[in-house]
Amino acid sequence: MCGIVGYLGKRNATPIIIEGLKRLEYRGYDSSGIAIIPDKEIKVYKESGRITELERVLPTPKESSSNIGIAHTRWATHGEPSKKNAHPHLSHNGKIAVVHNGIIENYVALRKQLVKEGYEIVSDTDSEILAHLIEYFYKKDGDITIAVQNALKLVEGTFGIAVINQDNPKQIVAARRGSPLILGIGDDEFFVTSDVGATIIHTKQVIYLHDNEIATIDRDGYEIITLMNNKVEAIISEVDWDISAVEKGDYDSFMIKEIFEQPISVENAFRGRLSEKLSTTRLGGLNIPNSELRKVKKIQIVACGTSWHAGLIGKHLIEKLARIPVEVEYASEYRYRNPIIEEDTLVFVISQSGETADTLAALREAQAKGAKVLGITNTVGSTIARESDGGSYIHCGSEIGVASTKAFTSQVTVLTLLAILLGRMHHTSPTDGLRYIKELYNIPDKIKKILDQNDKIEAIAETIKDSTNALYLGRGVNYPVALEGALKLKEISYIHAEGYPAAEMKHGPIALIDESMPVIAIALKDSIYDKIISNLEEVRARNGRIITIATENDDRVKEFSENVIYIPDTESIFQPLLSVIPMQLLAYHVAKKRGLDVDKPRNLAKSVTVE
Ligand code: AGP
Ligand code: GLU
Repeated sequence: MCGIVGYLGKRNATPIIIEGLKRLEYRGYDSSGIAIIPDKEIKVYKESGRITELERVLPTPKESSSNIGIAHTRWATHGEPSKKNAHPHLSHNGKIAVVHNGIIENYVALRKQLVKEGYEIVSDTDSEILAHLIEYFYKKDGDITIAVQNALKLVEGTFGIAVINQDNPKQIVAARRGSPLILGIGDDEFFVTSDVGATIIHTKQVIYLHDNEIATIDRDGYEIITLMNNKVEAIISEVDWDISAVEKGDYDSFMIKEIFEQPISVENAFRGRLSEKLSTTRLGGLNIPNSELRKVKKIQIVACGTSWHAGLIGKHLIEKLARIPVEVEYASEYRYRNPIIEEDTLVFVISQSGETADTLAALREAQAKGAKVLGITNTVGSTIARESDGGSYIHCGSEIGVASTKAFTSQVTVLTLLAILLGRMHHTSPTDGLRYIKELYNIPDKIKKILDQNDKIEAIAETIKDSTNALYLGRGVNYPVALEGALKLKEISYIHAEGYPAAEMKHGPIALIDESMPVIAIALKDSIYDKIISNLEEVRARNGRIITIATENDDRVKEFSENVIYIPDTESIFQPLLSVIPMQLLAYHVAKKRGLDVDKPRNLAKSVTVE
């Protein structure tokens, strides 16, 4: 994915765009660029590296003053991260500039055609051919919107694009298919962006473009049509959060801010969704009557990365409380496997961004097979939120840190609510339902108690920061938490880490154990506590260095642990909401001690809107 920002209006576009681009840097940050029309000609400035590198190559404010501009911060898919491959890309005659988010799957064929027509391709990217293609049609049609329309009709793949044309320096054309693009409607000024966070400081009035729509924006308004030339009546929405949600405040990174927001974000995920009177939960947005929900015989949960780990926890909880079989699938596998979806199977997709290409494709595949698909997402107006047949927002607010933290616990909270709802339709008694609900109210404070151990966890991070490998162990509902802990460590500290079911160690991985391999183990008081203690004693017997996440007041684990992080006791179904917190903090502190950028880890992007 990448970040796109465009501006057209009465003010100087350059500083507005650069400030907006910085708010989108979490979406991709290997290179960036801006195209403006300060006088009569398009000027393009671009640089590899972070946006601060781009700022260094910008001309003086006077020379870069322009009422129009488009910009891009890149996450490369085709062509290495470099200045040459950075966007915007210029057309052959240098009069049209394009920024693109997505993948042009048939770019090789289109490039061959353009080369035959005498066009010179200067970059290694797929995106550049869009600029030449638009120029090709513009020379024929003389209308930039029609040129964009004709060019995009030839494109296979995904795009979110913004286009400016030197012949009309008061017009931006924007279009999307499969990559998010939003119009911001300001006071006598317009914005184009991949994420409202870039422009919310200027306006909360937005229009979410839909797939195959093209917007033509002039100084006095905008018009939206489809690729097939049908006029679109735009719906203006009001963004319901403010700029503070996308600012670090007193924290030195978004990731640590978002970790510490979890008492509130978890509460927001269950607020208004608990019924003590009926000892159950309410998920109105599912858009499926309880009478239909209770007939569901199987559930498929499809997601990627951290969201997939949340899905694994959902499986444990739904099967425990409702005795409904749940399959959890990687979206990237599911979408190409011709999945078997029986009549009474309900499909859930989980996606924080609501834009992950593989998860979106899986949703569409399940719907193509006639299944009802419900989305558990965080981003209002996202493609997955809009294309799902219903679903639940997790309400954790904008998550900027590339490593997902508060979104994970909010996803798990919503899945817990779903498990209680389904459970109470089948095997969960009112007494148990009420007990779960009352405990859920205690979870935010219990998370706070763990966050209060931040300094202690930082000290423990010091003992493993130079490791090259790490092993995370958990059992039952905490096995997916071990997977999530390993993902957190590897994606921000670049230490190789694996999550494993603790009992599985005996079948091979125990060969890895020695004094250089830290083992982070979840050993909480529950029905399989004794089993995991045995597993950990096997590790200790081979000089494994064990950091144990244990239930407070459990002295037994001290016998074999190098360090113990105690967490409050809770119902087993809520353990993941607590056991993941030390994992998040440990990964954060290890990465910081290794001098790494926790918000923008190398090679990653916040949401992968390309295959
Ligand atoms: C999580 O820390 C990662 N950044 C990544 O695995 C992420 O969870 C995955 O890309 C799915 O994103 P989504 O929830 O927005 O679909
Ligand atoms: N496929 C384009 C490129 O590699 C766009 C990548 C992105 O979405 O950032 O430049």
